[in-house]
Amino acid sequence: MSRAEIVVVTGGLGFIGKHFVRQCLDKGHFVKNIDRISYAADRLVNAEFSQSSNYRFHEANICTLDFLPECDIFVNFAAESHVDNAITNARKFCETNFLGVQNCLELIRRKHEHERPRFIQISTDEVYGDIRDGSHAEADPLVPSNPYAATKAAADMLVKSWGRTFGVSWNIVRPTNNYGTHQYPEKLIPKSAWRMKRGLPAIMHGDGSYIRSWLHADDTVRGISTVIEKGRRNQIYNIGSTEERSNIQVLRRIAQILSIEERAAFVAASDRSGQDIRYSLDDSKLRALGWSQMKKFDEEIIEIVEKLDTSRFV
Ligand SMILES: NC(=O)c1ccc[n+]([C@@H]2O[C@H](COP(=O)([O-])OP(=O)(O)OC[C@H]3O[C@@H](n4cnc5c(N)ncnc54)[C@H](O)[C@@H]3O)[C@@H](O)[C@H]2O)c1
Repeated sequence: MSRAEIVVVTGGLGFIGKHFVRQCLDKGHFVKNIDRISYAADRLVNAEFSQSSNYRFHEANICTLDFLPECDIFVNFAAESHVDNAITNARKFCETNFLGVQNCLELIRRKHEHERPRFIQISTDEVYGDIRDGSHAEADPLVPSNPYAATKAAADMLVKSWGRTFGVSWNIVRPTNNYGTHQYPEKLIPKSAWRMKRGLPAIMHGDGSYIRSWLHADDTVRGISTVIEKGRRNQIYNIGSTEERSNIQVLRRIAQILSIEERAAFVAASDRSGQDIRYSLDDSKLRALGWSQMKKFDEEIIEIVEKLDTSRFV
């Protein structure tokens, strides 16, 4: 986005969405943020963004949204995003992650051809399922292991079909596991750090051997902007990370930062069903556009743990 553009962002009060909104405002773009303010939304950041004359907020559910304001780009972050919740009750995931996307695509399709924004769907590495060795490329088959991943994979199919059948212009971006500041405390790093800081052991799924690649939200939103600015239309782009860690390594690092002995730092709990062993993305397609990962996990995690934002924890 080289000139000032009007960007509709959905889920812009969520963890990654708010990093993206901030980046757009910093670049001088106009942002219309549509968020239904679920438990995962950050209300405080809305007040911060509202200081900008380029920012508008609309409280709405993407499943029932019936009007799309004029815009150049439509970036859909809105989702139910926590795998544990999907295992307990998948219905909301089907609604927001699948039917919500279908509704957004329809709103775009109904616009006059020359007034249609490009649709950017924020997908996930989880759509590929796990991989023991090597990395998944964009053309690999989708083999989701849990209901969350299944709804995200299904949404990707919708996006591609609305492109082919109705001529909606799109990109799908598949980032790997994100970390960063102000993440809702249901996720591994803030949840574990908060428990350890309160003198409680963090809870580790299984033996902690599951491997994730960790990507800072700032790197993710730069990757999304790279796709918007330089990516080819109707293409999928992975955003990967070279920072692979097993869950037990992450917990050990948090304990080390907080100077807590390992035996007091975490306890093993029963395994999450459908747990993927390892995710890994081949993101050479995005790197060819000039993007690269800037943030180093072992450095960034220090401030995230030490200055943990607990304002939304209770
Ligand atoms: N967090 C990660 O590690 C990660 C990794 C890869 C991909 N993703 C994808 O990135 C996107 C953002 O993830 P996140 O971690 O920021 O999520 P999040 O759960 O922190 O935030 C989701 C936001 O969407 C809003 N929302 C939920 N349902 C809505 C609806 N029906 N209508 C309007 N708003 C709604 C919530 O209020 C919240 O503000 C998601 O699509 C997710 O699948 C996340």
